[in-house]
Amino acid sequence: MKDETILNHDEAKDQYGAIVAPIYQNSLFRFKDWDSIDKAFDHKTEDYIYSRLMNPTVREAEDKIAAICRGEKAKLCGSGMAAISSAVLHCVKANGHIVTVKNVYGPSNNFFNKYLKQKFNIETSYVEGKKIEDFQNAIRPNTQLIYLESPASLTMELQDVQAVANLAKQKGIKTVIDNTWASPIFQKPLEMGIDIEVHSASKYLGGHSDLVAGVIVSSKQIVDQIISAEHELLGAKMAPIEGWLILRSLRTLPLRMKAMMETTIEIAQFLEAHDRVKKVHYPGLKSFDQYELGKRQMTGYGCLLSFELVTSNLDSIKAFVNALKLFSLGVSWGGHDSLVYAPVISYLKELPKERFEEMGISPSVIRLSIGLEHVTDLKNDLNDAFSAIK
Ligand SMILES: Cc1ncc(COP(=O)(O)O)c(C=O)c1O
Repeated sequence: MKDETILNHDEAKDQYGAIVAPIYQNSLFRFKDWDSIDKAFDHKTEDYIYSRLMNPTVREAEDKIAAICRGEKAKLCGSGMAAISSAVLHCVKANGHIVTVKNVYGPSNNFFNKYLKQKFNIETSYVEGKKIEDFQNAIRPNTQLIYLESPASLTMELQDVQAVANLAKQKGIKTVIDNTWASPIFQKPLEMGIDIEVHSASKYLGGHSDLVAGVIVSSKQIVDQIISAEHELLGAKMAPIEGWLILRSLRTLPLRMKAMMETTIEIAQFLEAHDRVKKVHYPGLKSFDQYELGKRQMTGYGCLLSFELVTSNLDSIKAFVNALKLFSLGVSWGGHDSLVYAPVISYLKELPKERFEEMGISPSVIRLSIGLEHVTDLKNDLNDAFSAIK
């Protein structure tokens, strides 16, 4: 079935005929006798025992996400970072090595570079990732994981997902991709040979800026291993109400993605033509240097873009951001509401200046998350804010 049908058709399985899955807001499940609970423990990852491991409401959403990702099984987690750390821990061992991209999401970077390094002596190599040779050259005898984020969520560089998956398979290295930007609607990395796909479901899958969640999608074997190790032991579970909210949001995911993509392309073109803008980073623009690769491996584009203002004067950048009325200033992205963020606010606090430069990020970079408002209003708001730049 197509994604739209998977997300909007449910089997009639509720005993009262409820058309929408109920919220099973319970911590544990009752068993009729000794033998039945004994049996459930033998199949711990398939039976409902305790909501830390599995809950029927959360399971409904997991089954739909697994299906649209063309994976065998999905596990929803309490945040994107819970999904990422669980998936990565599944793939690595002490004294190992990870290859990732230089512009990987900040907390994922901290997890590799600080946490795994200090606790388990796992080293991480950063590559630009635009060429397959970047990965080939970085692989060491102890490389256990290649971790992708394509497109990366700030400067939007892509990696050739299929080529990296093939390379990793030849070398016996596991692959994980953060597929949050493209969403399961526009990119299917498991079909391209990636082992594990992760998402921050706080973005499009939730879609309404009202929850924090994450998801891991892979083969049944890998997801079951993660459920009974990292997910159970670190307690990365999702609350039933959040599973239900995601289930509801998934119904409109294809429609939201299409509408937001159309608006984002129009905004990106508008920015590209504006005299206060130096450069726009958006894989959906024909001028984007990896446009052809994007077209080959994605069927559409996400709603997050960044651009560089012509000025790098901090007061002018501040004046622009503060003048926006429809774009709320805040972190995160992928919801119904348009947002603006200037990475320089946090990056200069979190990273040494050299790392900022190494990542190729100029202080004048502004990130926009485009929501479901009307494109004309958003363009007018941007236009007015550009006039505030001295
Ligand atoms: C690309 C990307 N991956 C992962 C995450 C982490 O997800 P969460 O905030 O749900 O833990 C984020 C959050 O902003 C993100 O932008």
